[in-house]
Amino acid sequence: MDKAQKDIIGKVVNCKFDMPCLVFDRKAVQRNYLELKKALDKTRMHYALKANSCNDVLECLKEVDANFEIASLGELKKLESIGIDGKCIIFSNPLADEGIIRAAHKYGVRYFSFFTIDQLKRLLRFAPNSIYSLRLKISDILNDAIDSGLSLKEIELLVNSNPKISEEINGLCFHMSNPHKVFTILDRCEEIIKKYLKNIKLINIGGGFNLIGDQQNFYEQLESRLMAMSEKYSIKFYSEPGRGIVSNGIFLASVESAQELDKTYHVYLDIGSCIFFKKEKVIFVSKSNELTRECFFHGLACNNSVIFKMKNVKKLKQGDVVCFMGAGAYFQNTDFHSFKKPNIYFL
Ligand SMILES: Cc1ncc(COP(=O)(O)O)c(C=O)c1O
Repeated sequence: MDKAQKDIIGKVVNCKFDMPCLVFDRKAVQRNYLELKKALDKTRMHYALKANSCNDVLECLKEVDANFEIASLGELKKLESIGIDGKCIIFSNPLADEGIIRAAHKYGVRYFSFFTIDQLKRLLRFAPNSIYSLRLKISDILNDAIDSGLSLKEIELLVNSNPKISEEINGLCFHMSNPHKVFTILDRCEEIIKKYLKNIKLINIGGGFNLIGDQQNFYEQLESRLMAMSEKYSIKFYSEPGRGIVSNGIFLASVESAQELDKTYHVYLDIGSCIFFKKEKVIFVSKSNELTRECFFHGLACNNSVIFKMKNVKKLKQGDVVCFMGAGAYFQNTDFHSFKKPNIYFL
């Protein structure tokens, strides 16, 4: 646990936060952005708002001149409200309707993505003079990749049946939740450029990047690969990481009630079931030293879902706190079921 995290736990013990809440270290968010930008300096990096679009995050990234990636009109409006220039924004959701495309283009956004011919036609009509980035299907390379996009075969078919319009395709993109297969995917991009799409000017290598652990080697290898491709095909690169920048936020939930049933301890937390975290990064703030055998943690939603299970944890009581370290990305940020929307504290 680093010093900032220890301070936060200290504040939890002294009841300084109204729960549930998400606590950020402002400097850490800016540091993450700048370090990742340096590691990916052969790309133009855009922070993906979907990971966390709260105003404080956006404002503190604005202070370090960040670029942004959006996937909805709501995200565009947020950036507009804090005065981010359209030139610093890319739109990476292929499922955009005419209204969103027009609004983004009017605001100055010139990067869009697609994976069907109809989406491409819509972009050509409502977002002229832009990058039209074809989303690749990579689920055959990475098991947990989002299964949308086009396979090699589908690209071949699209190009053969729409030769004229395919000449307008000038970008390629993909998204990995973990970048360990990025080199194999770049091989595929090269194959596509050589065989089917000669007008590619830009490749967006997506998100999933973080700087946890010693990955210097990985980033050095990636840099030389991107440099080589850039020289060979005269292309530029973009990246759009989210969680790597905000993940060290700490989500705090308090215990509403707890009970023992059939030798299993059940703890009900004041949140819904939607939270993105790692079990090994959960810390319990409780006065009890008594341990449970098996403990099930539930949110308050009536769908009976168990958020996570653990063995040998302290017996938590009403008012005790569960700290989800490293949970600043993709956390519950809604008033789902009319629960209280979590507060966000920026320290
Ligand atoms: C298209 C796209 N870009 C960027 C991201 C951000 O990824 P991450 O938060 O894993 O860095 C996602 C996340 O799902 C995504 O789908």
